[in-house]
Amino acid sequence: MEEPPVRIAPSLLAADFARLAEEVRAVEAAGADWLHLDVMDGHFVPNITFGPALVKAIKRVATKPLDVHLMIAPADPFLAAFAEAGADVITVHPEASPHLHRTLQAIRALGCKAGVALNPATPISTVKWVLDSADLILAMTVNPGFGGQAFIDNQLGKIAALRRLIDSTGRAIHLQVDGGVTATTAPRVREAGADVLVAGTAVFAAPDYAAAIAALKAPLTVVA
Ligand code: DX5
Ligand code: ZN
Repeated sequence: MEEPPVRIAPSLLAADFARLAEEVRAVEAAGADWLHLDVMDGHFVPNITFGPALVKAIKRVATKPLDVHLMIAPADPFLAAFAEAGADVITVHPEASPHLHRTLQAIRALGCKAGVALNPATPISTVKWVLDSADLILAMTVNPGFGGQAFIDNQLGKIAALRRLIDSTGRAIHLQVDGGVTATTAPRVREAGADVLVAGTAVFAAPDYAAAIAALKAPLTVVA
């Protein structure tokens, strides 16, 4: 049986910030499908990264879609700035956007794809009534804030349940997984139904980016 295609979105959080343009080009040449940009505010999550100015700078060198993961509260006042900076996908956390339906509509009105990120403790039911306004659901498999954390195993059941929920809509909504994705956890995440994998450490800490991305995309079934 044909396996569904999987996209890899390396998280630039784990890249060398002093050589960012070079890192973007290298990871694109190595087979990255999207570029994942983790925006943190030191308030919604206990870490600070970067804002729209850096997204805009990355847009000048990137050819792949920019997948902007907003870990900021509030998110609404900054959506336009990230869209103008060149975001292709903007993903928000419901805890940071209390009127989630309105936020998703605002993201789409800016010409971007709209994503919802679920923390490990956030229930699936949070997205049930906004699915028709969403282009992507992101299942966090670590608590957001830092790269290099261990994959939370019990989220595999949640990923599978999200896949069933998405399939029940009949719409092509992406199911993305973020946190602790490695060559070991990637096959389990893909078997559970994810089609976009974010990977920071597993790509940028590897000596060979192309080999690291290929390992994440390796066929799940070996034909005897
Ligand atoms: C965590 C971020 C992730 C992070 C993933 O808050 O959302 O995108 O960069 O890093 P790894 O792949 O190292 O777990
Ligand atoms: Zn992320």
